[in-house]
Amino acid sequence: MSGPLLILVSLLTSTIILISYSDYPLLLEMGNKRVVMVPANEVDLTAVKYEPEVIEAPHLAGLSLKLFVKLVEAPLIGSLIVSYLKKQNKMFGMLRNSVIPETPMYTPEFPPQEPESGVVCLEEDGKPEDRVEFALKCLPHYDAAICWTGDSTPFFRYWRIRDYAYAYRSGKANPSMVVERFIRVMKEFSKKKPPAPLLISFDAEELRKQAAASTQRFEEGNPLSILDGIIMAVKDDIDCYPHPSKAATTWFHEVRRVEKDAVCVSRLRSCGVIFVGKANMHEMGLGTTGNNANYGTPRNPHASDRYTGGSSSGPAAIVASGLCSAALGTDGGGSIRIPASLCGVVGLKTTYGRTDMKGSLCDTGTVEIIGPIAATVEDVMLVYAAILGSSPVDRISLRPSLPCLPNLSSSESSNALGSLRLGKYTEWFNDVFSSDISRKCDNILNLLLEKHGCKTIEIAIPELDEMRLAHLVSIGSESLCGLKPYYQDGKNVELTYDSRTNLVLFQSFTASGYIAAQRLRRRVMYHHMEILKKVDVIVTPTTGMTAPVIPPEALKVGETDLQVTGNLMRFIIAPNLLGLPAVSVPVGYDNQGLPIGLQIIGRPWAEASILRLAAAVEDLCPEPKKKPMSYYDILKGN
Ligand SMILES: *[C@@H]1O[C@H](CO)[C@@H](O)[C@H](O)[C@H]1NC(C)=O
Repeated sequence: MSGPLLILVSLLTSTIILISYSDYPLLLEMGNKRVVMVPANEVDLTAVKYEPEVIEAPHLAGLSLKLFVKLVEAPLIGSLIVSYLKKQNKMFGMLRNSVIPETPMYTPEFPPQEPESGVVCLEEDGKPEDRVEFALKCLPHYDAAICWTGDSTPFFRYWRIRDYAYAYRSGKANPSMVVERFIRVMKEFSKKKPPAPLLISFDAEELRKQAAASTQRFEEGNPLSILDGIIMAVKDDIDCYPHPSKAATTWFHEVRRVEKDAVCVSRLRSCGVIFVGKANMHEMGLGTTGNNANYGTPRNPHASDRYTGGSSSGPAAIVASGLCSAALGTDGGGSIRIPASLCGVVGLKTTYGRTDMKGSLCDTGTVEIIGPIAATVEDVMLVYAAILGSSPVDRISLRPSLPCLPNLSSSESSNALGSLRLGKYTEWFNDVFSSDISRKCDNILNLLLEKHGCKTIEIAIPELDEMRLAHLVSIGSESLCGLKPYYQDGKNVELTYDSRTNLVLFQSFTASGYIAAQRLRRRVMYHHMEILKKVDVIVTPTTGMTAPVIPPEALKVGETDLQVTGNLMRFIIAPNLLGLPAVSVPVGYDNQGLPIGLQIIGRPWAEASILRLAAAVEDLCPEPKKKPMSYYDILKGN
């Protein structure tokens, strides 16, 4: 009891101090100095100084979080507390006090891009099955003898899509057998106490039907593609008929019905993919740990007392446990890359507009995309090939470059790899919670130079705080706008305390603040486009920390810990705010055995280049893969 009481008392005291200094919260900001920014193209890059992020906010979990939410939702005292916290975090003053010379950029706008070198391009309007077969022809030779029969390698490795495909075609397994094993594991999970479900919508009978249809196609010798019979999960904010889409809330499916598959899901379905159900997530995607007080918090397969990361918590965990070959996630603020990194798997954030968002809950945003999570880069490539294709409407304004893939078995491709210049902002790169993270990432950069000749070039990225702020205001305002029609029905009380804290913050944003944020977006775009003239990709650790521990008191009520959020989100913002493609690929483990990811950020539409580099990183990684503590072999069944 003393913890929450202390916080309550300190909040009240600080509020009283605030009141005694000013009669009205707005006055607090008026003393601040006006800042006149020079035009983005006149910023002196040699004078850019890295400033570590400073976050001051209380860590609240359990009862203290409940109390805090009640306070910030209260009429007068609430707005006082919010403006106090915003003032503590300084950056919010920036929106009000800066004279920004750029015009707003409301959605990512790219200059036309040069074609990528050493890649093969796909037909965007072709059939997904054909694209997947094309992608298959870009992969290195598949050696069934090594992969299936021999146990020559002592190291753990995940079954890949091609292993399943081989097993189905050679009669060593069929989709129905695999699905039965999957159902058995889900039964096991449903008995866990406290609950930690990977799926929050699951229907064994419906799953059996899909598997039987696929098994029959194999029996008739007519599989639809290499993805036929491959089992996948879909994050709960993407429609997958007949499951409801709740975004892991308790009620969203009541106000928004699912009548058909999202476009990405239907593309995969036409390739024969079997969908196991809707994967757990951080409620509404409004958080990066994966905490979910409604259904239970999924556990990191490498350490059951730790978070998976989020918001695509279920998708990453179900892949890392070996239970699905791949999963679809969404990424508006690192939500694919963060959990992929924390769970030791690969996650691709596609270019804004590369995939058709229709049928996802965030299909009207400007920072979020749908992308694949899988255990290996080749599996990510296969799923990416199936789901890619801009919406007809986006094509008019975004003018996407043709979708391409790296041909991993051609010599042209390895030449293109060697000529890549990797941009690294060393001080930022090293701003991590434990030095293992930057060390392991650096190690890979050294190997890339040694083995392939990829040079790392020092870069400076100005205005990182401005970038964070512009993203927070954009994603916050977009979430709030999407939720508003439902939120007003008094549904706010049915959201988790964590979401409610966020919504209180989002509601404090103003229209002028939103426009200021979009002006910052144009600056940040300019800086990144200049940097990407000098280097081909930007490399960073994916996250500033490995999987955080779940405080036991956070399970029932949730928690808010902005230090953890800051560490998890440190490097992931640019791809969301600017729409750039990025991939997280595992590069080893920290001294506690927790996975570390390297992030590769590419030029607009340059998925092929970052996938090629990711495949090289995967090959070079000197540390053998660890079998997660929670791992299931549902292909062989042992
Ligand atoms: C990739 O390269 C290999 C070897 O040169 C070639 O056989 C294959 O057809 C290429 N794949 C595609 C899709 O062009």
